[in-house]
Amino acid sequence: MQIGRVNIDRPLCLAPMEDVSDTPFRLLCKELGADIVYTEFTSCEALVRNVPRALERIRVLDDERPIAVQLYGSAEGSMESAAAIAEGMRPDFIDVNCGCWVKKIAQRGDGAGLLRDLKQFEAVVKAVLRGTTLPVTVKTRLGWDEDSIVILDVARMLEGLGVRALTVHCRTRKQGYTGKADWAWLARIKEVSGVPLIANGDIVAPEQAKALFDMGLDGIMIGRGAIGSPWIFNHIKHYLRNGETLPEPDLHERVALCLRHLKAHVAHRGEKRGVFSFRKYYAGYLKGVANIAHLRRDLMQIEQVDLIEERLRHFLVDYEAHTAAALL
Ligand SMILES: Cc1cc2nc3c(=O)[nH]c(=O)nc-3n(C[C@H](O)[C@H](O)[C@H](O)COP(=O)(O)O)c2cc1C
Repeated sequence: MQIGRVNIDRPLCLAPMEDVSDTPFRLLCKELGADIVYTEFTSCEALVRNVPRALERIRVLDDERPIAVQLYGSAEGSMESAAAIAEGMRPDFIDVNCGCWVKKIAQRGDGAGLLRDLKQFEAVVKAVLRGTTLPVTVKTRLGWDEDSIVILDVARMLEGLGVRALTVHCRTRKQGYTGKADWAWLARIKEVSGVPLIANGDIVAPEQAKALFDMGLDGIMIGRGAIGSPWIFNHIKHYLRNGETLPEPDLHERVALCLRHLKAHVAHRGEKRGVFSFRKYYAGYLKGVANIAHLRRDLMQIEQVDLIEERLRHFLVDYEAHTAAALL
């Protein structure tokens, strides 16, 4: 799949995820096999007002390449200016968020709100194309609700505009995260539009990735499946190359990775903010581990990195002792 100077066969993409896909997480996923990463979505209005936190969100490091900056908004002037600001950060391409379902965003016409007004959708994408010389891609959903699925019209329209790739989270706005992503739509999109297509929604296993590539998808994008399991990208690559499933990392490896991620996160955000905002990742790293209510409670309370490390190491020692006792 080619997007400007990015040319990767069957790329695995880390999804843009607000408050999750920040620099340390993107670097970790990259190290563990992600081919393309995206910044968290960033408001065009905040960028044109020079809000420091918005500018910080779209900062790009060379080690993260290839990387896209993701923008959202529905005012053409602001989107055009924001695209120029984003280009100044030197990402490899710019992605336009036309799929965010969150009420305060979609109801005012941004994100998935654009699915209710395809004229405005088109105007917004055109504005971004005017604002930058970088390639532009779009990420969206199937439609507003099951009675207004517009993705085929959207795919045709975007191809006509010269958009370089389309990512589809195969749910409607109304669904939020309920139900299942309906990948059958991806084959229909492929029939009506030649725009390179990236599948998204509920991909958590190598077999699913293979099935999607076998359907002719150009790329796949993983969001929640990478939270707490960033090795998923390497596991998918291994499966695609060798047809075999790698075992999940054992608890020691998961805790070691969790601690490495925590330290990188805190180095990026500072200890006070970082320890707090890292709490969302623990559930993923500890998924499937039995009897950890006490550990979880402690991790939600401890405020210093060295104490968290001590607590996790303690937990591993206890866990091993219990496992050994159970085997006797
Ligand atoms: C915590 C969180 C934050 C998200 N933030 C964004 C975002 O900033 N931009 C975006 O396009 N999608 C965002 N999404 C949606 C994901 O990119 C993705 O489309 C969705 O989670 C479905 O993929 P998955 O089943 O692999 O998670 C977010 C999802 C989650 C869980």
